[in-house]
Amino acid sequence: MSKHISAAPGEIAERILLPGDPLRAKWVAENYLERVHQYTSVRNMFGFTGMYKGERLSVQGTGMGLPSLAIYVNELFTEYGVQSAIRIGTCGGLLEKTKIGDVILAMTASTDSNINRRITHGLDFAPHADFQLLLAAYEASKYLPNVHIGGVSSMDYFYDETDAAQKLIQHGVLGVEMEANQLYSIAARKQRRALTILTVSDHVITHESMDSISREQSLNTMVEIALTTLLKG
Ligand code: HPA
Repeated sequence: MSKHISAAPGEIAERILLPGDPLRAKWVAENYLERVHQYTSVRNMFGFTGMYKGERLSVQGTGMGLPSLAIYVNELFTEYGVQSAIRIGTCGGLLEKTKIGDVILAMTASTDSNINRRITHGLDFAPHADFQLLLAAYEASKYLPNVHIGGVSSMDYFYDETDAAQKLIQHGVLGVEMEANQLYSIAARKQRRALTILTVSDHVITHESMDSISREQSLNTMVEIALTTLLKG
């Protein structure tokens, strides 16, 4: 049992999906896994282990923002021996081509946060996805329309009042979310494998957002890419 996850040793699989929303973790467990076992409900941040196509997988909520995700990912890697982790979440689209409902495979995750610099003492580390997982996700999605591969940025502020989005657009960043940077950074330091797969739920420039039907359908697409990737990657 760790500080924020009440699982016993061995209750969490080596391969895990990480939605931000604990209710999405429950939804994935109920809709995709068999022989499901809930191993934690500390702070209502649910985690489940079950079987998918004969393989043992877990799904764990991480909460919103870099610090919250960092707590769960540190404990999953260091105390439960998780080896491969795929974040599944939503993001704000930045470019014209990143439309509502599109899926993004996040090759890199920059940030406006200071969270890595306090460890690297000012050096700009470039957090990136595990190539094998990225390749497996590409293979799982290459015939689907509207899948993009590229950089995202994990921002500290959801309600950002600055011109940060314009700077990111100048660099071709596909979307903004709030967690991938620390998943990749902690995975690098602990020598684990990580990927982030995102659905564009709203658009930062046009202010469009997803209706509830397309939200569910595109979440299905993202979860299915992530599950296939975890099995193959
Ligand atoms: N900003 C940050 N995170 C997000 C957004 C956004 O616009 N949309 C979904 N997650």
